[in-house]
Amino acid sequence: MTRRSIGELRSQRWFASDDMRGFAHRQRTQQMGMRREEFLGKPVVAIVNTWSDLSPCHSHLRDRAETVKRGVWQAGGYPVELPALSVGEVMVKPTTMLYRNFLAMEVEELLRSHPIDGAVLLGGCDKSTPGLLMGAISMDIPVIYCPAGPMSNGQWRGHKTGAGTHTKKYWDELRAGNITQDDWIDLESRMTRSIGTCNTMGTASTMTSIVDAMGLTLPGASSIPAADSGHPRMASACGERIIEMIWEDFKPSRFLDARSFRNGLVAYMALGGSTNAAVHLIAMARRAGVDLTLDDMSDMAGRVPVCANLFPSGEYLMEDFYFAGGILAQLKKLERHLDRDAMTVNGRTLGENIAGAECWNDEVIRGEDSPVVPLSQGKTLAVLRGNLAPNGAVMKSSAANPKFLKHVGPALVFDSPAEMNRTIDDPDLDITEDTVIVLRNAGPVGAPGMPEWGNLPIPKKLLKQGVRDMVRICDGRMSGTHYGTCILHVAPEAAIGGPLGLLKTGDLVELDVEAGRLDMQVGDQELERRRAEWNPGALRYERSFAALYQRHVSQADEGCDFDFLSTRGLVAEPSIF
Ligand code: FES
Ligand code: MG
Repeated sequence: MTRRSIGELRSQRWFASDDMRGFAHRQRTQQMGMRREEFLGKPVVAIVNTWSDLSPCHSHLRDRAETVKRGVWQAGGYPVELPALSVGEVMVKPTTMLYRNFLAMEVEELLRSHPIDGAVLLGGCDKSTPGLLMGAISMDIPVIYCPAGPMSNGQWRGHKTGAGTHTKKYWDELRAGNITQDDWIDLESRMTRSIGTCNTMGTASTMTSIVDAMGLTLPGASSIPAADSGHPRMASACGERIIEMIWEDFKPSRFLDARSFRNGLVAYMALGGSTNAAVHLIAMARRAGVDLTLDDMSDMAGRVPVCANLFPSGEYLMEDFYFAGGILAQLKKLERHLDRDAMTVNGRTLGENIAGAECWNDEVIRGEDSPVVPLSQGKTLAVLRGNLAPNGAVMKSSAANPKFLKHVGPALVFDSPAEMNRTIDDPDLDITEDTVIVLRNAGPVGAPGMPEWGNLPIPKKLLKQGVRDMVRICDGRMSGTHYGTCILHVAPEAAIGGPLGLLKTGDLVELDVEAGRLDMQVGDQELERRRAEWNPGALRYERSFAALYQRHVSQADEGCDFDFLSTRGLVAEPSIF
């Protein structure tokens, strides 16, 4: 690979010029205590940090930023830390998804407007991975993703507890009267026992593992637990490697292609990953100029069964996965599905990176011959279409009760979570386990931001009878840590006139996962009549970021990116003067 000279780096437009502006850039850097020789003539590396005091999964990223700097200094670069929006899943309301595109815009503009030659991106909690990478792909300078790492295994009274998955499980047990309020409070301090992202195969580990397989992290980085001493060593190595990538101008457009995304899909399906990835991957692919559709995903899901034995599809946690060999060992077992020639950030192919990977626990990391969920029983991602979802809906059929995969039942329709919450636990509610619960107006425009409302609650009355799963439909999303027969991402969404908005309580809904169908048994004429009566509600926001979002966001099957950002295209470098 040809190496660039220092004069070819974009940072030098700021630092190397002899005019008054160049003086100011150097003078102000010296104001921060830097000697000229510490930054002049060196590649400038941005460490984009999504740390915040309200982002529990990223609480260690201030320390890690310092460790990345160590690697940058050692390799002869000048590291600068740039804080970026922390879209911590737990605290941000109404939903972090509203702000994923905000983070993507912020990253792209941070990198563009500053004297930056390459970047190490620190993130990990769900939306931070796609947000950081969408921006970096659009800016197209050398970049490495440094994942925050999963938290250590949790236990409560001898039982494994996984963040997210067991919150929901024990909440249902509390509502059913099987655990006490004191138990519930005790759990609060037991479930999340270390730094790091959720330790189940929720959206965080799904996305970091996928981008690892796509070659955007150092190989295997996504599996290293946050609290492991290997984690800061990996962070330091990111700082060292980015310098080499800068000299080689090894930027996303030079290696991130359709093969990388296909490899990402192999990981996605094998891990039984979160449905959220379906939205993020389409958004990332469009930024990279790669054509990727829901059908590509369901196609891969039909070939690669769930092989990683991790919650919520299986029974282990991310620390077990790491000790068993991590993502590289999992990919190695599925080598025949991979594009082994796809390049990765360490300058080697994926095939080279997994060549020496070994599996130390075949119970946790399975092969296709002994999958956690055989293809005949369920897939990581099933795509459904029909008169309820003409442009598609998704479900994780591997995490559903098999008896519901072919089902007809009467709809119980809610227009808002408030309406649902008022009604759902009413002891007189006319409902059986065959009822199909529907929540609409939860899509990208309607909510707005497509919140994770889709794991609709099972009515208390049925919980007490032992029911733990039902068919549920929503145009919103669901947490990747959750499970159940939940049909999500219905497109087009109700709020923009999608047929989900025409469904009425009592209409029969028909689900056939094997046939890929989701229909309401309502005749075309009746649907036309209802459509004529349907009123688009006013877009709710007149000002603020939410107003911009509602006007420009695309539907779930298109990645929920903004129309003015979702394509690849050159943006002029800023004028320095
Ligand atoms: Fe941050 Fe789950 S809440 S990763
Ligand atoms: Mg989540």
